[in-house]
Amino acid sequence: MFTVDLSDKMALVTGAGRGIGKAIAAALAGSGAVVAVNDIDAASAERTAGELGRGARAFPADVGDPGAAARLVEDVTARYGRLDILVNNAGIEPKAPILELSVADWQRTLDVNLSAAFYTSQAAGRIMRAAGGGAIVNIASIAGHNIPLPNRSSYVASKAGLIGFTRECAREFAAYGIRVNAVCPGVIETEMTAESRSNAAQLEKWLADIPQGRLGQPPDVAGLVLFLCSDGAAYLTGQAINVDGGKVML
Ligand SMILES: NC(=O)c1ccc[n+]([C@@H]2O[C@H](COP(=O)([O-])OP(=O)(O)OC[C@H]3O[C@@H](n4cnc5c(N)ncnc54)[C@H](O)[C@@H]3O)[C@@H](O)[C@H]2O)c1
Repeated sequence: MFTVDLSDKMALVTGAGRGIGKAIAAALAGSGAVVAVNDIDAASAERTAGELGRGARAFPADVGDPGAAARLVEDVTARYGRLDILVNNAGIEPKAPILELSVADWQRTLDVNLSAAFYTSQAAGRIMRAAGGGAIVNIASIAGHNIPLPNRSSYVASKAGLIGFTRECAREFAAYGIRVNAVCPGVIETEMTAESRSNAAQLEKWLADIPQGRLGQPPDVAGLVLFLCSDGAAYLTGQAINVDGGKVML
């Protein structure tokens, strides 16, 4: 992983107990940032924070809950006195055909994958505006660009919504020196994709569609997030960038 200098920065990463969020937290910490590690699973958040060191602490919370998400941002800022980087990474992916998907699963997906970014960005935006700037990165998906993903209607809708929210947030927050971008991973090897990857036919189909001929690893996503949080991306906002081995070329 390349490094940038984030040594005076404070970052909050949601859903960082494992997978992509954990790799993002590690990349930010490796570049000198102090990282607040959120996850709904307290034990995994503690584990990640312990592995990162460098002042990292666990902040367990359900970001799909509006009150808990706002309190999370307030607690982190109260603990560290600032908040420069927010990465909205927490996500869930219920699988069911539309005719069978429960209203509860539909609603929960939108809460965690889409509304949480509004809750945390609103709270963090107020803090970053007062401080003169910041960077927000939302982890969306290539599924948010109309890439078919059977039996994941709530997931696809939430990620398309997240890309839309990212653009509006970038427009409004630009005046405050806050950049807001989305990262759209393809298929990445994490627990979220474990079941589908164990299906040989599904795996073969995915690989056939990826020019680079391999699935992504969490650090592949973390590298792009790290760049977007750095001064190297100073003139970059409102974008939704794919990191997918070339699967989607817009
Ligand atoms: N893995 C992929 O192929 C892929 C592709 C595109 C996008 N993404 C997105 O990347 C992000 C991370 O995915 P991953 O593959 O690492 O998944 P993962 O399931 O391995 O990890 C997700 C983490 O988020 C946490 N989480 C879930 N709900 C939460 C909540 N309400 N509050 C706080 N934390 C919560 C989980 O406990 C878990 O630690 C997600 O937003 C996902 O949609 C993943």
